[in-house]
Amino acid sequence: MYEKIFEKYSPEKENLIYILHEIQDNHPQQYVSEDAVTAVSEYLKIPRAHIYGVLTFYTMFSTKPRGKNVIRLCESPPCFLKGSEKVLRKLRDVLDVKVGETTPDGLFTLELCACLGVCGNAPVMMINEDVYGNLTDTKVEEIIKKIKEA
Ligand code: FES
Repeated sequence: MYEKIFEKYSPEKENLIYILHEIQDNHPQQYVSEDAVTAVSEYLKIPRAHIYGVLTFYTMFSTKPRGKNVIRLCESPPCFLKGSEKVLRKLRDVLDVKVGETTPDGLFTLELCACLGVCGNAPVMMINEDVYGNLTDTKVEEIIKKIKEA
């Protein structure tokens, strides 16, 4: 199941992050499953505990199934000072979920993250690979509506 991904990388520890990324990106629920951890552990000959350590250290990884659209709202100081708290309230309202949860229709997962490197546009969030900045309540509503209608 993961052979196609493994074929691209030699079995060296240095490739762990790349492999995990690719596994997660290719999973319809955007996470790294237990099966995947076992397969990677066997391929790279590193303990599962080490892989879980990496998966929990980096916030971009998830070991739980997630929605089709993963929203990652930046909570670092520059975004916080520009109102990320308010954006978070709006997102929780519109989606009716708490941080870390997925909407019942499987469309959205709400997460927090550290600086996304575009502080000039604070407050900022990413939805999958797309970055949205200068967020306001209205903008949040529009973005979510657009994705729902797509
Ligand atoms: S602090 Fe939010 S993008 Fe940098």
